[in-house]
Amino acid sequence: MKKTVLVTGGCGFIGVNFVRLLLEDHTDWQVINLDKLTYAGNLQSLKSIEDNSRYTFVRGDICDQELVTSLFTKYQIDTVVHFAAESHVDRSITGPAEFIQTNIVGTFTLLEVAKKQWLQENKSSTGCRFLHVSTDEVYGSLGEEGYFTEKTSYDPRSPYSASKSSSDHLVRAYFHTYGLPILITNCSNNYGPYQFPEKLIPLVLNNALQGKELPVYGDGGNVRDWLYVRDHCEAIARVVEQGTVGQSYNIGGHNEKRNLEVVELLCDMLDEKVGLLKSGEPRRSLITFVKDRLGHDRRYAIDAGKIAEELGWTPKFTFETGMDKTVEWYLENRPWMESVMDGSYTQYYETMYGK
Ligand code: NAD
Ligand code: TYD
Repeated sequence: MKKTVLVTGGCGFIGVNFVRLLLEDHTDWQVINLDKLTYAGNLQSLKSIEDNSRYTFVRGDICDQELVTSLFTKYQIDTVVHFAAESHVDRSITGPAEFIQTNIVGTFTLLEVAKKQWLQENKSSTGCRFLHVSTDEVYGSLGEEGYFTEKTSYDPRSPYSASKSSSDHLVRAYFHTYGLPILITNCSNNYGPYQFPEKLIPLVLNNALQGKELPVYGDGGNVRDWLYVRDHCEAIARVVEQGTVGQSYNIGGHNEKRNLEVVELLCDMLDEKVGLLKSGEPRRSLITFVKDRLGHDRRYAIDAGKIAEELGWTPKFTFETGMDKTVEWYLENRPWMESVMDGSYTQYYETMYGK
């Protein structure tokens, strides 16, 4: 069905993959990408599609109510897919203020505008949808056993997950209080093309290619449940189209891995694809155990049964096929990584939008 979608944070890792998916596979959807272009936003990642007639980019802040209102009015937005956030746990530990502002106040601003535009002034919200993209980290940390379901109580433990939990609660409150047609997705750790190299997988790939140390926090035994980004994006599109308003859906791939396992696998894959280090040593020799993250959640694992049963979504990629595609992508796109590492990726938009 025809839609005009406001994608927030469309220049970030998952947003870029989502915008590309929409332009490829959802040919009746019009896409308006609102992104502030923080350090995590990379306009170059969308360069090849920027002239697509179904795509419009707007640089701006989701906290700017006037701007968001003008976009709703100008483009007659009927769908919001809200990715924009501060997303890195380590940054939330050293500087939580931006997380409170963007993740909580920004989400509140979008909700307020959607409420006014869709529910007030005798307007109809028929067919409108506000999908809030969230994380499994809102559920806290698991022991050796068990899975997060949609019924698991929230128990956030980092400033990042606490800010995402707050925004989830606000989104749900706008459904119960005002009847805003919302949906929430809570997904596990993503990996794949265009991920900023502060997150484990691209950071390890980049360091390992350059023969630099590979920092593993604590004992490397923390477990994450990995999902290839394309699978996440397809799940989000499915929830927008078929999800029941007011509901939340867990998204995950049953790919629980200890961090050390992931780092070792990446080392072995690179050794095989590009050869050993110049010293003749395997890349595993670069692994360095470092001081643990404060409040480091031990284990995340998603039960994605609800989205499978109700919406028929299951991931297409296994950990092996997804990792292979990912490593190949970073090897084929070395200039992308280099421009992020040397900071020159910002020059592309600075010429158009200023700093
Ligand atoms: P990211 O950090 O790569 O990208 C965030 C994007 O939001 C950037 O383009 C940035 O410029 C933009 N942004 C930040 N503040 C903004 C503001 N105030 N106004 C407008 N734009 C702003 O994040 P990501 O990894 O792509 O994650 C996207 C969403 O998915 C987040 O909400 C995150 O919580 C959620 N999520 C991520 C993962 C994961 O593994 N990466 C897993 C589950 C859920
Ligand atoms: P990260 O990619 O930051 O995602 P999240 O914290 O949202 O799960 O980290 C994934 C896991 O890898 C997490 O347990 C922390 C760990 N980690 C390291 O061991 N070393 C690193 O350099 C980074 C960035 C993360």
